[in-house]
Amino acid sequence: MEKNIKLSENIFWIGKVDDRDVPFHRLTLTKGTTYNSYLLMTESPTVIDTVDLSFGKEFLDNLKSIIEPDKIKYIVINHTEPDHSGALGGLAAKAKNAIIVCTKLAEIELKEMYKLYDREFLIVGDGDTLDIGGKTLNFIETPYLHTAETMITYCLEDKILFPCDIFSTHVANYDYFNDMAKEDISADYIGYYKLIMHPHRRYVQNMLNKIKDLDIQIIAPSHGYILRDNVQSFIDIYDNMSKSTEINKKALILYSTMTGRTKKIATFIMEKFQEQNIVSEIINVNKVEKNEVIKAINEADVIIFGSSTKYADIIGNMEDILKELNAINLEHKIGAAFGSYGWSGEAIEVVQDYLNQSNIKVLSTSDIIKSTGMIDIEFPIRIRFSPQEEDLKNIERAVIYTVDRLLGIVPN
Ligand code: FEO
Repeated sequence: MEKNIKLSENIFWIGKVDDRDVPFHRLTLTKGTTYNSYLLMTESPTVIDTVDLSFGKEFLDNLKSIIEPDKIKYIVINHTEPDHSGALGGLAAKAKNAIIVCTKLAEIELKEMYKLYDREFLIVGDGDTLDIGGKTLNFIETPYLHTAETMITYCLEDKILFPCDIFSTHVANYDYFNDMAKEDISADYIGYYKLIMHPHRRYVQNMLNKIKDLDIQIIAPSHGYILRDNVQSFIDIYDNMSKSTEINKKALILYSTMTGRTKKIATFIMEKFQEQNIVSEIINVNKVEKNEVIKAINEADVIIFGSSTKYADIIGNMEDILKELNAINLEHKIGAAFGSYGWSGEAIEVVQDYLNQSNIKVLSTSDIIKSTGMIDIEFPIRIRFSPQEEDLKNIERAVIYTVDRLLGIVPN
């Protein structure tokens, strides 16, 4: 580790350049990457994020050459994925007096990941500040960029943003700062955005709104180049690429409801598609002729089939419609199942079985985890009784994911 890579007075880069071919999200980063960690040498010395687990010992040995770990007062963890929190277990063991600063969700994860059940945590959220003796840290939650527990940290006096994965680049570089780079980094910066952030672009706009009034002189992310030249242009790339566009796709929501709860879910799904600029149609299959329903299926790009469960089975005309699917070419369409239930929700699984037997591309949680690593998208959509606030959030995320599939933004 080089000891004199300074961002400003008393703020040091203490990360690791990884110039191997790095396995990452089922890809290989052929240009490698860096794991950027930062040390703020104030009256209450503070480390922001760590490095990948495979470099934990090296990180700790190097850190010891700058500061005795037991002098560290705070360890800020912006994001729990192990490429940034991997060295936390080793660091926390040596930095016995350090308080770990993170969001509430991150606390749960870090305690489990690194067996930190007895450590002192400081839970922070939007707008909270922390005086670290000579500098002030400001915290901003950035959920789903790119996982639920994430936050970014802003140093008020030095005007430095520490956004962890956000505004990063996957390049192993020994130049550290974008103004020192030997070549244009735009393509790598945009490539990273498309791979990691674009699937979550609605949350990118939320994040940009939260940081818009900050005076940011330096962006110090946790992968790749530290951005200190033309900083606003890098923020503008995120802004321009995450804005929504008109979409020439159509969604169809078919439902068969017993008490009105499945209808309520169907209506909410339709509204969420409309919010994403997708033309949407909703049909109660018990009130429309079968040939009209088949016509609507033929015209749609995504079809969501919902049924309440009664006596462990589908209700109304839905099964008649599902039996017709093998006679329709659904090859380029996306399908999913949903429904409200009281006990076991068998109807939802039977709908899913019918879809699996057709040639429609069926959305399932298992496939989504395997292709994207996203663990918070639930298909089929199973709602016990009436949808609660958390259910509605889950449905909204599922619809956003579906739109991204339609647009080819996330892999199949
Ligand atoms: Fe760089 Fe989400 O970890």
